[in-house]
Amino acid sequence: MQLATTLIELQKIIINWRLAGERIAFVPTMGNLHDGHLKLVHEARKYADQVVVSIFVNPSQFGVGEDFSTYPRTEQEDIKKLRAIPADLVFLPSVDEMYAPNTKTVVTVSGISDLYCGASRPGHFNGVATVVCKLFNMVQPDCAVFGLKDFQQLAVIRMMVRDLNIPVEIIGVDTVREASGLAMSSRNGYLTAQEKTIAPRLYQALCIARAAVLAGNKPYPEIEREAIQLLKQAGFTPDYFSVCRSSDLNKAEPEDVGLVLLAAAKLGTTRLIDNVYFSR
Ligand code: PAF
Repeated sequence: MQLATTLIELQKIIINWRLAGERIAFVPTMGNLHDGHLKLVHEARKYADQVVVSIFVNPSQFGVGEDFSTYPRTEQEDIKKLRAIPADLVFLPSVDEMYAPNTKTVVTVSGISDLYCGASRPGHFNGVATVVCKLFNMVQPDCAVFGLKDFQQLAVIRMMVRDLNIPVEIIGVDTVREASGLAMSSRNGYLTAQEKTIAPRLYQALCIARAAVLAGNKPYPEIEREAIQLLKQAGFTPDYFSVCRSSDLNKAEPEDVGLVLLAAAKLGTTRLIDNVYFSR
């Protein structure tokens, strides 16, 4: 497994693969890799000859007062895990390598970036879209693999790729869960032992709401209200709980078939997100 920290090092390797006619799959991450990330790397292998993983904690997707400075950085452990799979190349750029000091260009996928997580974290999805667009230009992969846990992020990236004609196939991979049902996330490490026992209730609330949607005898706003109530009773501070159309993430209408339930809630100081998607 090769490592590159600069764009020049990265591109020397990529050019040789391209000349050899090899297919490249890309898995962008912010490191602190857990089984959810490793599943993305395993999936990526199915689509390409060479698998590139980036590890970059992207400052532009964190808001003021968010956890950029405390976000877990576990580079050596991450490299060990990736060697074991193995990935073929790990790209670990510095902030200066990624962003010129006078950088002026931001990618905005309007509308969808302002909903849900975008409403609570203004500018977050601009940061995500910009860094993913830059990484695509640097790595020039044939395909890129993202977790469905960040359902809204994946929708933003799909729209960006469509609107900017970026020639990268986007592949979504199912969420990996703890035995308790809790979706794996780097931020789970912030939870106290007590909070870890409560955290799986977020997924439980989503499953209860999905059952209510499928039963078909309650209006969606009532299902959302009940889910918020359940989360409050469990000790969460809910941010949103929304029955959405999976194609564009707008509020679902009774006639919509492809649905996703999106939820975000704080437990103590930790913000958790999760979702379930299904057809009715
Ligand atoms: O999902 C993440 O880890 C990040 O948002 C991503 C896609 C690597 C961009 O920084």
